[in-house]
Amino acid sequence: MITTTTPLEARIAAAPRDFRVLTGDRPTGPLHLGHYFGTLRNRVELQRRGVDMFVIVADYQVLTDRDVADRLGETVDGLVLDYLAAGLDPDRATIFAHSAVPALNQLLLPFLSLVTVPELQRNPTVKDEILHSRQSSVSGLMFTYPVHQAADILFCGGNLVPVGQDQLPHIEVTRTVARRFNERYGPVFAIPEGLLSNAPLLAGTDGRKMSKSRGNAIALSATPDETARLVRSATTDADRHITYDPERRPGVSGLVQLAALCLGRDPHDVAAEVGGAGAAALKRMVTDAVNEFLAPMRERRAAYAKDPDFVRSVLRAGNARANTIADQTLRKVREAMGTVY
Ligand code: TRP
Repeated sequence: MITTTTPLEARIAAAPRDFRVLTGDRPTGPLHLGHYFGTLRNRVELQRRGVDMFVIVADYQVLTDRDVADRLGETVDGLVLDYLAAGLDPDRATIFAHSAVPALNQLLLPFLSLVTVPELQRNPTVKDEILHSRQSSVSGLMFTYPVHQAADILFCGGNLVPVGQDQLPHIEVTRTVARRFNERYGPVFAIPEGLLSNAPLLAGTDGRKMSKSRGNAIALSATPDETARLVRSATTDADRHITYDPERRPGVSGLVQLAALCLGRDPHDVAAEVGGAGAAALKRMVTDAVNEFLAPMRERRAAYAKDPDFVRSVLRAGNARANTIADQTLRKVREAMGTVY
């Protein structure tokens, strides 16, 4: 959660309305508890405080590491449903899709002229993604998407980007692009700041980081039965006595942490309460805690899912708003560059 321990957090607490957040996700599949405790919860809290919230469905960015994205439309609808279920309010947050905002995408061209190829090649997050990519060779989009992401942030004057550690290099690219543009053509862009999430890394049901591709994730939209099945299959260890020791007992501790987060309790207390009752008791506790915690979100999601027109109307309204702002920004960019004819 957001605390007020850093100067930036204190500034947000003092003047939330000075901030415009731009954040978002690649529509690659259902959001899970790792996303919830990592970022969604923060977004809802920032929204509650009155920060202006822009959430991008990064449907072009999906194509960085695959040739085609299967059933993208469905995945996008699912992502919007997950947002609404988690508590993003379409009356307060602007939820929109990359591909629906032409002027945003056009910013990519002048922005690309502001970075060098070695800079693109040095990006540690991109390097890591290339390493894990399922493609035999790397696409141009893979190298340039951090600059595209700069356009996502800068088109709407986003000055606050809540991110995980892996996104920090991209924030640096964005700041570099904004600074260089301003130096070359005059002051157009605010220099955004990254708000590093202090959420703990959430372990999945195998003790490793929760992630869809590892099959260890509990989706927000999973049914209670699916949740029970996933938790039952979780990796534990031979020591019957339950303790919280993430270093030495990643499996058991991941489960303890999950229950603790859902119950809003300290993980050591949760472990002590289960104690000698063993892994089966821990798993029952986790299942109940997760299902109870997610019940209101799942209910909201099911209600919205009955109304696909509403989901699309949320996206259309967000796209319209994003387009208005992107057109204005592109106009300013072209004026600064002397290319309004
Ligand atoms: N890169 C982010 C992800 O992989 C998604 C994203 C696209 C994003 N554009 C952004 C995040 C701008 C923050 C700001 O999930």
